[in-house]
Amino acid sequence: MQQPIAILDSGVGGLTVAKEVLRQLPRERIIYFGDTARTPYGPRPSEEVKRFTREIVDYLVQFTPKMIVIACNTATAVALEDIQSRVNIPVVGVIYPGARAAIGRTQTGYVGVIGTEGTIKSGAYEQALKRLKPHIEVISQACPTFVPLVEKGNFCSDETYETVRESLQFLKGSPIDSLILGCTHYPFLAETISEVMGPEVILISSADETAREISTILHDQGKLAGSDVLPIHQFCCSGDPKIFRQIAQQWLDEQIELTPVVWQVP
Ligand code: SIN
Repeated sequence: MQQPIAILDSGVGGLTVAKEVLRQLPRERIIYFGDTARTPYGPRPSEEVKRFTREIVDYLVQFTPKMIVIACNTATAVALEDIQSRVNIPVVGVIYPGARAAIGRTQTGYVGVIGTEGTIKSGAYEQALKRLKPHIEVISQACPTFVPLVEKGNFCSDETYETVRESLQFLKGSPIDSLILGCTHYPFLAETISEVMGPEVILISSADETAREISTILHDQGKLAGSDVLPIHQFCCSGDPKIFRQIAQQWLDEQIELTPVVWQVP
């Protein structure tokens, strides 16, 4: 059986990256892990997020992946380098790809970033954006109420609209022309975020750019899957399998093979 691409997230958010990988690289097999029992990672101390990420990687290596994708911004911000130093396969995060996409899209040079408290506090997007384009203006805002909405499957309701409107009030009055969805959960709320921000603000999700980066690395290493047989993907979650399955099948528009993982939840 071909080696899979392992994708991990604190919950269902990384499915936005998985969907783009499946669209761009339909021959690749993926193994996805959503740590739904311990989501959200955003408010947790960085050492704890680092430990959780290590535990998931230790679990995923049994599937002998050819690459690991940390499809969680909070975990990318605090654990990417740590994981890169622990395994000898490529490890890709979502922050640089998102920053690159925003630089390519902004006309005014004012870029907004929304993410969890952990991601915004780390300053990882600001650093990545400024490294790519030193004079870029970055306006960041933590939106801690978004992930719990997504994990409940509440993408589109009056409650969602009100929560998004209140959280984005500050950014709405700013001069940004593009807004990075700096949490892989946020594309689930893209319609509402766009409605609140208005059509003049372009929403940037790192999913497409991350999938392109995966494709480039695998191509350069001669590791792109070649088989014509459509692969069978595997999904694992540490929390309630019912809600994970429901969200995953709705988002990916296909039936999934799901393995609930009994995890020692501290
Ligand atoms: C979270 O678990 O708080 C969100 C995941 C992310 O930052 O992408």
